[in-house]
This record gives sequence, C-alpha cells and structure tokens, in this order.
Amino acid sequence: SWTMVNIVDEAVASIRAQVGERRAICGLSGGVDSAVAAALVQRAIGNRLTCVFVDHGLLRKGEAEQVEKDFVAATGVALKVVDARRRFLDALAGVSDPEEKRKIIGREFIRVFEQAQAQIVEQSAKQAAQDERQEPSAHSASFSDWCLVQGTLYPDVVESGGGAGTANIKSHHNVGGLPDDLEFELVEPLRKLFKDEVRRVGEELGLPAEIVWRQPFPGPGLGIRIVGEVTEQRLDLLREADAIAREELTRAGLDRDIWQCPVVLLAEVRSVGVQGDGRTYGHPIVLRPVSSEDAMTADWTRLPYDVLARISTRITNEVRDINRVALDVTSKPPGTIEWE
Ligand code: XMP
Repeated sequence: SWTMVNIVDEAVASIRAQVGERRAICGLSGGVDSAVAAALVQRAIGNRLTCVFVDHGLLRKGEAEQVEKDFVAATGVALKVVDARRRFLDALAGVSDPEEKRKIIGREFIRVFEQAQAQIVEQSAKQAAQDERQEPSAHSASFSDWCLVQGTLYPDVVESGGGAGTANIKSHHNVGGLPDDLEFELVEPLRKLFKDEVRRVGEELGLPAEIVWRQPFPGPGLGIRIVGEVTEQRLDLLREADAIAREELTRAGLDRDIWQCPVVLLAEVRSVGVQGDGRTYGHPIVLRPVSSEDAMTADWTRLPYDVLARISTRITNEVRDINRVALDVTSKPPGTIEWE
C-alpha cells in the first residue's frame, strides 16, 4: 500500500517528467487544493514555479495573510500578489443578483489572472534576454516555455466527465480555475487524489494546519455571502462576524465535525433591537453550520447551544450594526449550502 511519502515522491517525479525544462505558473486561492498543488510543483521544479495570488477582497479575515506570509514561509515559493480589491468592488457596485455576482467575480478573476500571467512571462523573457547578454547559453522564455498548475482533484475529474453536477443550479467558480482556451499546458498533480489524501500530502509537505485543514470556501467568497449588494463596509462587517464564529467553533473543538459553516449577512434586512439604553436598527447575520460527505447533500449541524450562545453574544456585542443572529436549520436539499 502507498504511504504518503510514496505519493509525494511519485507526484514529484511525474511533475518533473511533464514539465521538463519549462516553467510553471500556479494560481493560489487560499484553499487547500491549490496550495498543495503549488507545494508539490515547488518541490519538483523549485524556483521555476511562480505563484499568483489575486486578492479580490472577498476572502475572510486573515486568509490573504495566510497565503502571503505563512504559505510562502513554509514553501519558499516565488509569489506575485495582485491587489485587485478595488477592481472587484467597482465591478460589483450596484449588483444584487446572485448569478450576476458570480459571473462578474468569475470574469474579473480570469482577466486579472491572465494579466498577471502575461506579466510574469514577459518579465521572465526580459530576464532571459539580459542573462543571454552575459551568458549566451541561457534560454529565452516564451509562452510555450510555460505550464499552468491546477489543483484539480479526482472527484472534479469524474464530475466534469458528464455527471449531473450543480452547474445548472449555480455557476460555480473555482478561484485558480481558469478559462478553457488555454495557451498553457496543464499540470494537475492532484488528479488521482481525494480531498483527505490531498490534506495528508499537504501535511507531509509541511504546510500550515490553517491551510491544510481549511474548510471548503466558495471561489466567489464573501461576495455570495452578502445577500444584496457587495460593499466594502458590508464586507468588513461580515468578515468580523465570520471570524468570531470561526474562532468559537475552533475553541469548542468542532472544526473537524462540521463540513463548513457559512456566515451570511442579510445586508438589506434590518430589525429593531435594544442595546444599553438605546434602540438599534441593524442587520441580521445567519449561521449556516452543515454536516456533509461531499456537499451534494447536507444536513444542518446540531451545534451545542452553549457554543451558539457564545457566538451570538460575541457577534452582537462586538460587531457594530449586527443586532441579531439567526440559525439556518434547513437541510440540502431543499436549501443549498450557500445562500446564493
Ligand atoms: P451549494 O451552495 O451549491 O454549495 O450547496 C456546495 C459546495 O460548494 C461550495 N461552493 C463553491 N465552491 N466555487 C467553489 O469552488 C463556487 O462558485 C462555489 N459555490 C459554492 C460551497 O461552499 C459548498 O461547499
């Protein structure tokens, strides 16, 4: 039977065989799949890999830093960070429709990523030309000298082979997942692995636990957890509430018992509350803890009341403008996991 070391060695060897002398680019989303794929390729071809992280401003508290600091520290990978927060906010201004939000985020993501890709190739070509002047043997870089790394898992491979999927229900979007008309050859080192194996490979490669054990998070991020228009202020509110919920779930030791717990801001709903001597008129947030094997179906998780109570008390005390916490007790079906 295969040990993790075998799996890692095998993957590294096959990446080396495929990439050869070429270079590679890998988009990082903050999620476990792209992180493990990148770490494997880094191990195989070292600094011929460049990672790209598009900060679209829709990540949760601390997640951008996890990529920019912790992941880089753990792997030594070369990382290009693109701060696209303003661009995404501008593109999403005035949009409340869930599908439209998903499409905009997907489209902007691809544009920003392609720009970054082109810059990396161009820079590398310039560098190669410079090196050539000093040292004539160095080879030049052009598009055909590059591969694109993707964190496709075995279930993704099976699903895109014509399974019923959820694509007709929501336009799913994988950050790091890219357009079909690729100029780059794909490298998919996780194609034969399931999620739990990917996590174990990640551990084997020494990636931070916060990345390896991260719960699933949708590509469009907090953009589809704000019911209503996405604004900077609303993102800040949701980020604070979400961070508190995650902190209390972790403290209660529940991280590995739940599949995920979206926190949803009902940005266009207000309710009256009272705090201290004063009337408040704030927004509700919804906790959506779910248990699932594969996200195709799910049940709402019966979280302990004392944990729910702590989350509720802390959020309403600590997050201005949120004066009510509601619990979603819907299974999937009929509810989907995310609200949009
Ligand atoms: P739903 O809401 O369809 O979600 O029940 C099922 C699972 O998929 C995640 N999800 C996404 N993941 N891109 C992703 O990579 C997406 O656009 C997306 N939308 C939903 C969701 O968090 C849940 O785990």
